[in-house]
Amino acid sequence: MKKPVADQKFELGVCYYPEHWPEEMWDDDYRRMVETGFTIVRMGEFAWSIFEPEEGRFQFGLFDRAIDLAHSHGLKVILGTPTATPPAWLTEKYPEVLNVTQEGVTLQHGMRRHYNYSSPKYRELCARIVTQMAERYSSHPGVAGWQIDNELNCEINVFYSESDHTAFREWLQQKYGTLDKLNEAWGAVFWNQSYTSWSQVFLPRPTPVPGQPNPHQALDEKRFISDNAISFAKVQADILREKAPGQWVTTNGLFGHLDSHELNDEMLDFFSYDSYPQFSSISNDQNERNPLADRSWSLSLSVVRSISPNYCIMEQQSGPGGWVNRMDMPSPKPGQMRLWTYQSIAHGADMVLYFRWRTATMGNEIYWHGINDYHNLPNRRVREAAEIGKELGAAGKSIIGTTAKASIAIVRDYDNEWDGEYDIWHGPFMWQSNKEWFKALQHKHIPTDILYLRSKTTAEELSRYQVLVYPHPAIMTDETAALLDEYVQQGGRLIFGCRTGYKDSRGQCYMRAFPGAAKELCGITVEEFTMVKGRRLPTTIKWAHGSDELTGADSFNDILHVEADTVEVMGTYASDYYAGKPAVTRNKRGRGEVWYYGAVFNEEAAVRIIDSLELASPAAGWLELPAEVELQVRSSESASLTFLLNYNELPVEILLKEARTDLLTGRTLEGKFIMDGFGVLVLQ
Ligand code: GAL
Repeated sequence: MKKPVADQKFELGVCYYPEHWPEEMWDDDYRRMVETGFTIVRMGEFAWSIFEPEEGRFQFGLFDRAIDLAHSHGLKVILGTPTATPPAWLTEKYPEVLNVTQEGVTLQHGMRRHYNYSSPKYRELCARIVTQMAERYSSHPGVAGWQIDNELNCEINVFYSESDHTAFREWLQQKYGTLDKLNEAWGAVFWNQSYTSWSQVFLPRPTPVPGQPNPHQALDEKRFISDNAISFAKVQADILREKAPGQWVTTNGLFGHLDSHELNDEMLDFFSYDSYPQFSSISNDQNERNPLADRSWSLSLSVVRSISPNYCIMEQQSGPGGWVNRMDMPSPKPGQMRLWTYQSIAHGADMVLYFRWRTATMGNEIYWHGINDYHNLPNRRVREAAEIGKELGAAGKSIIGTTAKASIAIVRDYDNEWDGEYDIWHGPFMWQSNKEWFKALQHKHIPTDILYLRSKTTAEELSRYQVLVYPHPAIMTDETAALLDEYVQQGGRLIFGCRTGYKDSRGQCYMRAFPGAAKELCGITVEEFTMVKGRRLPTTIKWAHGSDELTGADSFNDILHVEADTVEVMGTYASDYYAGKPAVTRNKRGRGEVWYYGAVFNEEAAVRIIDSLELASPAAGWLELPAEVELQVRSSESASLTFLLNYNELPVEILLKEARTDLLTGRTLEGKFIMDGFGVLVLQ
């Protein structure tokens, strides 16, 4: 039975590093935290050398005092296991625990996350420190729960130490049993890669053209890394479960090469995420049209709630972020920290901790600003946090017990994510289409879930959604196609983009007409296809219904051929030698329908489909909103909360056609209402 994130009241808190500050400051810090409205602090996650200054010698004085004092102020404590930063004595004595780059360079002590998950020695030493900490604090009334490690797979998510190659080999032996099967799965006959002994098998190693390993091996590499990270975390989770059964267990993250759904299901009470919306200000794609900017964090938060419907934000951005030489971000403007806090809550957070109480005066993160500045004098961010603390102190209990609701989902799966990281013939399309669909749905105020298709996904889970958008699932098994068909037959509406269905689970191509496993579902085949880039002029689509305006047929064009008489052509190419040929089709199937869109989605195309499907905001009957306001609904059997978040710095006008009460202020609103710049309403 999983423990809830919060069951009585909303928990607001902050990350605190007692080891960074003179002990005389702690009491005042805790007192001011409580004044700010905080109820919980996280600590300990990088402090291994404080707990174990030399091998096998444990000391708890500093954290005993820090935890006791926090408890005496009524603050709960989350303890991080310190395994993301092995001590210098440890890596000096056992260099095999260090991570190694693909080129064979060992990553040394001096930053963090320089270890690997495979080293038996590292696992043993991690198990020992976690056991010691769990025994010490399992019965402490102030300790609420545990965070395992810190951000698994952050900063680096590939591993090439000796132990990793060995563990990979063992993992492959488990998976394939024989070398023949491995050779077949990896298509090793191509370029004479066949293996005749297991000792020849490694994680991908440097190649003559850099970064060009066998693609099937590269897919297995990611599956292995994920399984390996999960089994690394499980060592700690098992200890915590046994020694500290009364406390909850989580970890914070959302990083590559990690099946976070499996991680959560296997061992966590709930998932935690670190939300830094200001990363959008340093995004690579400066040419993107209509970018969602900080609002795009809602897409990540939707992934988080697909893992764990209610979750903890272990680190919520509270100031300008930046390392000394990396991630130089602007400062959040007045109101933005509050907006982002409610963004996290709107999607399902029942606990939010700001990162961090006070900006560090030393180390890599001297510019990663916390609520307090170095000088510790009152400032704007402290005042904003206190305002939020006060609001949530009053309103928080009405939020607990509700979860976010949506009737449309964007579908993803790890195989395609990992295969697509290497395969540029589909991978980048998936991210593009996710972003553009999310943008279109956001601007139309239609709450959207992310749904990860997993081997355990059932038709019943799918049937909760009126519409599923599965943009470019290149890898699709016949079993997945059958599951999707069940959904469609029962009335579901399913939308695919180009490059669907042509690969098996090994990442090899079917010898079948495209869209391979999805052909029957779609009732079409792909006559031919092309990348649209470089010297190829952009192409366009003319839609059969609605406005005559053409939309761009971005990045890739599948030229479609209708195979079934249940298919209607919804759009044709309007340019190039295939002008007039089908680009968008809809197949009526059972009680539902399947769309095939031959290109990579953009917002305009998504809007055309949303309009054809007559999808509307759940609040369309009583609320009119401008595009820049996000609408998100959290509800339970007895309550429904409509969160409105204005990402615009300027005030915007909204129209309430029915009277509603704002949970945060208690005011009843009706008719025209001006929301403040960065304003938030929670309508009951
Ligand atoms: C997170 C990490 C924190 C801190 C923060 C700001 O990734 O968990 O320890 O580093 O980012 O960089």
